Amino acid sequence: MPSAEEKTGQKVTLIEMRNLTVSRKERKILDSMSLQIRQGENIAIIGPNGSGKSSLIKVITGDYRPRADSRDMVFRIMGKESWNIFDLRSLLGIVSGDLQLDYMRDISGLEVVLSGFFSSIGIYANHRIRPEMIATAYEVMKFLEISPLSGKLISEMSTGEARRILIGRALVHDPQILVLDEPANSLDMKSHHQFRELTRKVAAAGKNIVLVTHDLGDIIPEIERVILLKDGKIFKDGEKEDILSEENLSHLFGLPVKISSNNGYYHAIY
Ligand SMILES: Nc1ncnc2c1ncn2[C@@H]1O[C@H](COP(=O)(O)OP(=O)(O)OP(=O)(O)O)[C@@H](O)[C@H]1O
Ligand SMILES: [Mg+2]
Repeated sequence: MPSAEEKTGQKVTLIEMRNLTVSRKERKILDSMSLQIRQGENIAIIGPNGSGKSSLIKVITGDYRPRADSRDMVFRIMGKESWNIFDLRSLLGIVSGDLQLDYMRDISGLEVVLSGFFSSIGIYANHRIRPEMIATAYEVMKFLEISPLSGKLISEMSTGEARRILIGRALVHDPQILVLDEPANSLDMKSHHQFRELTRKVAAAGKNIVLVTHDLGDIIPEIERVILLKDGKIFKDGEKEDILSEENLSHLFGLPVKISSNNGYYHAIY
């Protein structure tokens, strides 16, 4: 049954945070953060090293729990306050450096991709792998041009090869939200280009992209909203054209930054 929001034509709120704080070792690493992400919205998150980008991603993926001591704190995903971690992750396709580290062991490329169906790190005896899952995994690998990696152990892959396998894992179960924390690190030029084109296709299919990047060139034209993080707080949040200004980025990084834009893509010179 359509929700009230759908009936009135408004977009469904996928992620809602209000006054969300995350602490580690007595330190606030996210400080009273408030934001909403609606269905179909694509977002880029930019900020200096240590500003809280990965921590924000880890809240969304259920790896970090917000502090519950603030009475006006709200954290809902698709309207729900509590989630089983596997149900939550089945909604998400995740690519991050931390995930790559988790996988540094003797497991083949095909098994890594298949593990995306189970939101697990690897394949276990209780996983029922159906023939259509294997077929889909091979299809995704073919599409990403990583079929030759299917039998190779991830521990023996180059960093860029392993990254591409993880991208396959993130896409294989057709997630609603693609959560990407510096996904293009270590990719060569062609793979980087393919990856951008791929995120464009995912966006065109009505999925949400939440992208953390240090490279403005990764902000594909379909990403219309940009959030700038500084010291665990939202410094700016709004339309890409307004947010990606020389003034904002120079202030954010503390050095003069020049911005150029071309065909819907932005580049920073510093
Ligand atoms: N588990 C943790 N324990 C202690 N401190 C943490 C933990 N996770 C994050 N932090 C701290 O929180 C701050 C934000 O870290 P985070 O990884 O979110 O930064 P980031 O914006 O992703 O940076 P980068 O661009 O370097 O990836 C850092 O100072 C980091 O040391
Ligand atoms: Mg990070």
